[in-house]
Amino acid sequence: MAILPILTVPNPVLKQVSKPVEVVDDALRALMDDMLETMYDAPGIGLAAIQVGVAKQVIVMDLARENEEKEPRFFVNPQILSSNDERVEGEEGCLSVPDVFDIVERPSKVRLRYLDYNGVQVEEEAEGLYAVCIQHEMDHLKGVLFIDYLSRLKRDRAVTRVKKLVRG
Ligand code: NI
Repeated sequence: MAILPILTVPNPVLKQVSKPVEVVDDALRALMDDMLETMYDAPGIGLAAIQVGVAKQVIVMDLARENEEKEPRFFVNPQILSSNDERVEGEEGCLSVPDVFDIVERPSKVRLRYLDYNGVQVEEEAEGLYAVCIQHEMDHLKGVLFIDYLSRLKRDRAVTRVKKLVRG
């Protein structure tokens, strides 16, 4: 496994639309393993492949708390089948926009379909933090970042801040 560099704003690669995966094979599992290690190292709770420069519809996630056992989740070609009308506001951050946090409003519950680590199709409901996180990560697959939901002023300020941070 390897820790991969995480791209940060305003890297234009983050605006790319990711392509569906054709087959879940060992090469893809190796990518998912590297992404998971990269996410744990950051540390973060979710990471999309495009954040490490790979335009494939792949997401890794682990919502376990620090003192809990690890609970890695893998999503290949995820789709949202339906989302409920109720919306919730939650504070979001992103490994590609380090040190910036803001409130985003999203549907509180979504129904998902995806392929897991072994290429098996799964359908399930997501709510709470899981629902927020999967919607945030799936936005990455469309080239959308959580700061795109903020005002232009806040977005520009966030990008400037990250640029400074990355430059050091
Ligand atoms: Ni993110």
